[in-house]
Amino acid sequence: MKVYISRNIPQAGIDLLIDNGIEVRINSANKKLTQEELIEACQQVDFLLNVGHADLNDYFFQHCKHLKGVALASVGYDHVDISAAYKWEIPVSNTPDVLSAATADVAFLLMLAVSRKAFYRAKEVFDGKWKDFEFTQDLGIELEGKTLGIYGLGRIGLELAKKAKAAYNMQIIYHNRSRNVEAEKLLDARYVNFDALLQQSDVLSVHANLSPETQYRFDKDAFKRMKKNAIFINTARGKVHHEEDLTAALQRGDIWGAGLDVTDPEPMEANNVLLQMPNVCVLPHIGSATLETRTRMAVMAASNLVAVAKGKTMANAVNL
Ligand code: DGY
Repeated sequence: MKVYISRNIPQAGIDLLIDNGIEVRINSANKKLTQEELIEACQQVDFLLNVGHADLNDYFFQHCKHLKGVALASVGYDHVDISAAYKWEIPVSNTPDVLSAATADVAFLLMLAVSRKAFYRAKEVFDGKWKDFEFTQDLGIELEGKTLGIYGLGRIGLELAKKAKAAYNMQIIYHNRSRNVEAEKLLDARYVNFDALLQQSDVLSVHANLSPETQYRFDKDAFKRMKKNAIFINTARGKVHHEEDLTAALQRGDIWGAGLDVTDPEPMEANNVLLQMPNVCVLPHIGSATLETRTRMAVMAASNLVAVAKGKTMANAVNL
């Protein structure tokens, strides 16, 4: 059996495949492939281990219907047409849990960095604009005892809530499709409706999947209903907020600041006005980007393919 790996992954994932008798072909140039290049590369293999957000749509599955399995090296699968994979009977897996703590770290990092205008102040240093000690200019705001609102309190949201409670005794409120009993018990988290989430959060952090229901959920109207001193954080998917509306809300002062690890589109253009704003921090989608987490993701993706090669089902299948 053979697998195509669409970008470089940590060696532990490759070793697991080889140790289980799977021949590995890899995009050794490590450059982003077009859909046609990816389809072409998949023709001679049984499995795809997909890294990144290539559009795995009906066209892709139709042209790769011989594949016995697709393992995504990501928890999100909004770039995959799951019903098409189901139609062509190709199991698809993702990498839940193993990246929750690392991604929550980035949400925490952004929350703190925005609250202290850290990126903007650091840029002053890089640009040689650090002139004097300022007592009243460009002050940040503190997080102690503030209310953290979580939109989509699943595994990553829970990790952030734990950190925020431990570090700043933040009060946790959340809005979800279903109640998170663990968070309510462990952290005294309070379930609220969407409107209350907007109105009561001092920091509002997005951890929901991208779906037709969540796309552009944070738009002009939502930002208008938030507190004027609120910080908006998104480490999930860039399309859950409407970027133009977010920019306008920050310019009008409808909210105080924003921290984004995800943008729409990605990469963000270097001349985007958000990058000039003192209360905005933008990172290039690094939620899971630690050696430990990327290694766990690679091993998990590989083990899902090994399972199929051995005639078993994928432990992390998303379409079975
Ligand atoms: C994920 O795992 O979904 C991250 O966003 C990286 O793709």
